[in-house]
Formats: sequence, structure tokens, C-alpha cells
Amino acid sequence: MLTGAGVSAESGVPVFRGEEGLWRDRRPEDLATPAAFERDPRLVWEWYAWRREVVGRCRPNAAHLSIARWSLAREGRTVVTQNVDGLHLDALLEAGGADVPARARPIELHGSLFRVRCVRCGRRRTSREPIDASSERTLPRCGRCGAPLRPDVVWFGEPLDPEALAAAFGAAAAAEACVVVGTSAVVHPAASVATVAADRGACLIEVGPEPTALTPLADISIRARASEAIPALLES
Ligand code: OAD
Repeated sequence: MLTGAGVSAESGVPVFRGEEGLWRDRRPEDLATPAAFERDPRLVWEWYAWRREVVGRCRPNAAHLSIARWSLAREGRTVVTQNVDGLHLDALLEAGGADVPARARPIELHGSLFRVRCVRCGRRRTSREPIDASSERTLPRCGRCGAPLRPDVVWFGEPLDPEALAAAFGAAAAAEACVVVGTSAVVHPAASVATVAADRGACLIEVGPEPTALTPLADISIRARASEAIPALLES
């Protein structure tokens, strides 16, 4: 299963592109870059603190919960997401309790708003606490080496985490079926997860209100919102 922003649309997660994605007239392309963080880490953290607050108030919808139950039900079911909102994980906690088996955890190809990573030693950790971005002095620092922490998300111009990529493409190559939901499938390498699965003979099922870059390859296209189509597809 490959998911994108559309699966979280009905949870109210603001979109990245267009007017709604703007913050104080700044575009994400000007803030979500390593150069922006180097230039002004306080400003970048202020933006992420705001995003964490807004997204942190969103709850998993019927599609996230259905996907969580589906992935918990049997081994060999992999969820690969481009979303950084953490809602697949929240849904797993809601559906299955605190002990989420590692195999059921989503592969978060673009990282997570609710994880931080040390710019020097690379150590990652979950981070739900509010960030104080009022001055550079109050920004979060690594508990191990003291260097600045950054959001553990993939920024423009950065490569994806090689381990996450390998796991996603490994699952795609072995898949009998691949459900693609809520993504325009124009951002690579994420979208290639679906094309690799299709090339290896998997049945490709796409779910979303509009045609996408993957429509010509799809065996089945379900033109509906995720919260309606996904429970019907996975649990009927
Ligand atoms: P997009 O915003 O490009 O595409 C969202 C897709 O969801 C569109 O095809 C919509 O038609 C569809 N959609 C909208 N509402 C829906 C609903 N209720 N149910 C199902 N589908 C719905 O988002 P992504 O493809 O996820 O990358 O974008 C991919 C990447 O582009 C993001 O992860 C981000 C961005 O650059 C990074 O930040 C690295």
C-alpha cells in the first residue's frame, strides 16, 4: 500500500501546495531546505513548531483506521507513506494498543513531523513536546552530543533514507497487489514504489477522486474518497 496526502485530507491536515500551504507568505520551498536551516534555524523551527501544533490536533480518519487494522491482521502487509503527519502510526496505536509490532509500522518515506534528528551524530527520536522557537538558544539540542536537532523530514534537494527506501522497494517487488491511495504519484522515488510493484506483476488498485500519473498503469481505479473506499475495499 502506498499512501499520500489525500488519505489525510479528511482529517483536516493542511496541504503543502497552493495557498493553504503558505505560512506568513512564505512557500514551503523556501523553508524546507538544508540551506534555509543553515541560514536561519530559528525561523525554520518556528514554522515546524506551527505545523506540529496544527497537525498534532488532527485525528486519524476511517481510512487510517481501516489501513491500521488491515496491516495488523496479517504479516506481509506493508504500508509505505509519503505523509509526515504521523496519522498512520496514531491509527495503529488506536486500533492495536501501545504494542505496535514493528512489521505493521508504516515506512515513512519522507520522514515525520514528530521525530527529530541530530545534525551531527544522526541520532533520531520521537518528539511530541512543544518546540520553543522564540530564540536560537531555546531550540532543541541532541541529548548525546549537544549539536542542534532538526526535524526528521526529507527536505527539498535531499535524498531519502536508504534503509526506508530499500524496505519500501523490497516490499513492492514481492507484492501480489498494491493499493495506491491519495497521492498524485508525481514525486519520485516514492511513486516508483507502485510502478515497481506493477512491473513485477502486482495488481495495481488506485483510490482517489481524480486520475493520477498512475492511472494508465492501474488495473482498477476507484474514484472515491479514501474514508469511504478504503474500509469498503479492505474490510468487506
Ligand atoms: P498531492 O497533494 O500531490 O496529491 C494528493 C492526491 O490525493 C491527489 O491526487 C488528490 O486528488 C487526492 N485526494 C484528495 N482528497 C482525497 C481523499 N479524500 N481521498 C483520497 N484521495 C484524495 O500529495 P502527494 O502525492 O502525497 O514531499 O505528494 C507527494 C509529496 O509531494 C509529498 O510527500 C511532499 C510533496 O512535495 C515531501 O515533502 C518530500
